Amino acid sequence: TDASGTRVFTLDIQPGETRFKAGKATRTWGVNGTYLGPTIRARRGERIEFAVHNGLDEETSLHWHGMHLPAVMDGGPHQTIAAGATWEPRWTIDQAAATLWYHPHVHGATADHMYRGLAGLFIVDDDRVEALNLPSDYGVDDVPMIVQDRAFDGDQQFEQREPLAGSLGVIGDEILVNGTIGPYFDVTTRLVRLRLLNGSHARLYHFGFSDDRRFSLVATDGGLLAAPWETDRLYLSPGERAEIVVAFEPGERVELRSYPAEHGGVLGRLDGFDDRFDICQFRAADSLSGDAAVPAVLGVAPDLAARPVAQERSFVLASNRINGRSMAMDRIDFGVREGTVEVWEVTNDNGYVHNFHVHDVQFQVLTVDGRAPEPPLRGWKDTVLLVQGKRYRLALRFRDHTDPNMPYMYHCHLLAHEDDGMMGQFVVL
Ligand code: C2O
Ligand code: CU
Ligand code: CU
Repeated sequence: TDASGTRVFTLDIQPGETRFKAGKATRTWGVNGTYLGPTIRARRGERIEFAVHNGLDEETSLHWHGMHLPAVMDGGPHQTIAAGATWEPRWTIDQAAATLWYHPHVHGATADHMYRGLAGLFIVDDDRVEALNLPSDYGVDDVPMIVQDRAFDGDQQFEQREPLAGSLGVIGDEILVNGTIGPYFDVTTRLVRLRLLNGSHARLYHFGFSDDRRFSLVATDGGLLAAPWETDRLYLSPGERAEIVVAFEPGERVELRSYPAEHGGVLGRLDGFDDRFDICQFRAADSLSGDAAVPAVLGVAPDLAARPVAQERSFVLASNRINGRSMAMDRIDFGVREGTVEVWEVTNDNGYVHNFHVHDVQFQVLTVDGRAPEPPLRGWKDTVLLVQGKRYRLALRFRDHTDPNMPYMYHCHLLAHEDDGMMGQFVVL
């Protein structure tokens, strides 16, 4: 923290080598290390500033996914950092406690830069979440899990060849959690809160445990649900986060897995639908501390449905285009009015999976094909899975940060699609 009360973070993006398996090291990129980056934590109301140094020999960027902030601080394709340069974004945290993340966002190169290892979590804290009795001892019973897949070539380097002519992006056959293959976690408490991030390019995860135990979903992308939702399965598409609370018994071992999905897809196995694989083993100690009660009341449900709608828009996603158009850096697709609520109807018009992410806001899913959404879509979201053929109505409120010249992005978060142009730009006026 400097004299003015601003908290300053120093991030150094650099190339390196990481040993994922026995034998040869893999050439990787990292933030303050060789693969992935530190978890950043800041409080609601706190003024923060970064010095992001690009130690690579090409331009990159860091985007704060899920953050409400001025467009010039967003770290998207218009805020690239030249090789050797330092970027200094600053803003005041103005949103509820949530598990957000950061990653590069260079147009056409996002997939490549993320695949090499650039990404990290960004946790926002606030008084409300701290007043709840949720597990919150970082690394002990509050555990970040960046779940990714990678393919390795015969030389132990990351394989970037894309199956199916690049229509989905790389699907790896090795699952990494926080950069570790074959991970396990030593459980020492009755309850553990997992902050799950799907940090993959294209893979859909359908999380569940090997014994089908139930767990509680307590938060989605933008923060706490109104109340915990008990389930035994949870989908996360690329870019989505979830916080779940799981109860353990002394001495037991259980695997966190990904299960096949119920709704099929023509690309089956490649988008995760027919896959079943282990992600992480949980090994409980012979005696566990703490109790096993999850608070019954958590946050405040999204309330945008009740507000007047200033504008409706529709977005059809098909063939790596949105409404038939491909991303153009110098084209702003539309402007929204500060302080208003809009309803965006988003449709996946393809036979395979997309998702939809909007910068700057957390939105409310009003309906899916005209019906009230399932519980995991009833909290604040910034990224939503678009099942083939379905129609999603989203309510978004653009609170402040007007800037007629600097746009925010909306796009499919399957990175091969985004890089291919399945992205658009809007400004807040
Ligand atoms: Cu996760 Cu436009 O980003
Ligand atoms: Cu984003
Ligand atoms: Cu897509």
